Amino acid sequence: MIDIHCHILPDIDDGPRTFEESVAMARMAAEDGVDVIVATPHVNEKLYDPAEISRRASWLRHLIRKENIPLTLLTGADVNTVFAPQQVNQFTINETDYILVEFPHTHLPATAKNILFQFRIHGMKPIITHPERNPSIKSNPDLLLELLDDGIFVQVTAGSVVGEFGRGAKKCAHYLLKKGVVDVLASDGHSTKYRKPLLSQGIKGASTIIGEEQARKLVFTNPMKIIANMSFER
Ligand SMILES: [Fe+2]
Repeated sequence: MIDIHCHILPDIDDGPRTFEESVAMARMAAEDGVDVIVATPHVNEKLYDPAEISRRASWLRHLIRKENIPLTLLTGADVNTVFAPQQVNQFTINETDYILVEFPHTHLPATAKNILFQFRIHGMKPIITHPERNPSIKSNPDLLLELLDDGIFVQVTAGSVVGEFGRGAKKCAHYLLKKGVVDVLASDGHSTKYRKPLLSQGIKGASTIIGEEQARKLVFTNPMKIIANMSFER
């Protein structure tokens, strides 16, 4: 499986503090059946040099190899919409056109549609992260449907599907799955203790709603196309 959203790099955001913890997360993910992780630290308070991400990823790759963990590590970022698209075009997933875009945790801005449009204008394909955990969308999931257009994608958290983020997020995740608007499931993992870098339970949960074949697309085919910068349709 391919996990396109995981805070696995150490000492850069609210993910692991040490490389040791990062390696433990890598091991846990590989044991769950994850083959590829995109390391996506938050870019939400200050802009930093994307080289900060590459440097940590290079060292973690070295450690993963040394420990014989069968996992490929790529880079991206979890980019908050406080930044203008032209400020963050260096933070795309695996240097593709796809970029994880996170709205504020408190609400959905009235300008959300325009924000996404601006990313498109600047040549990027925004992937809206965990809409099922956004309070505005949680209480009215159709708000998300209104935002969707060509070149705008949706990533739901695997844990939300099985209730790890509460009943509201679970209900919303199930609604979005049934509507057929979820493109990817990702872990949004932060540690080995809470918000783990796992996908298998979420995919099992999604299979009961949309069937196994469709559910597998969310962790195999679709994220594979994303990291390869291939187009795909919902
Ligand atoms: Fe995240």
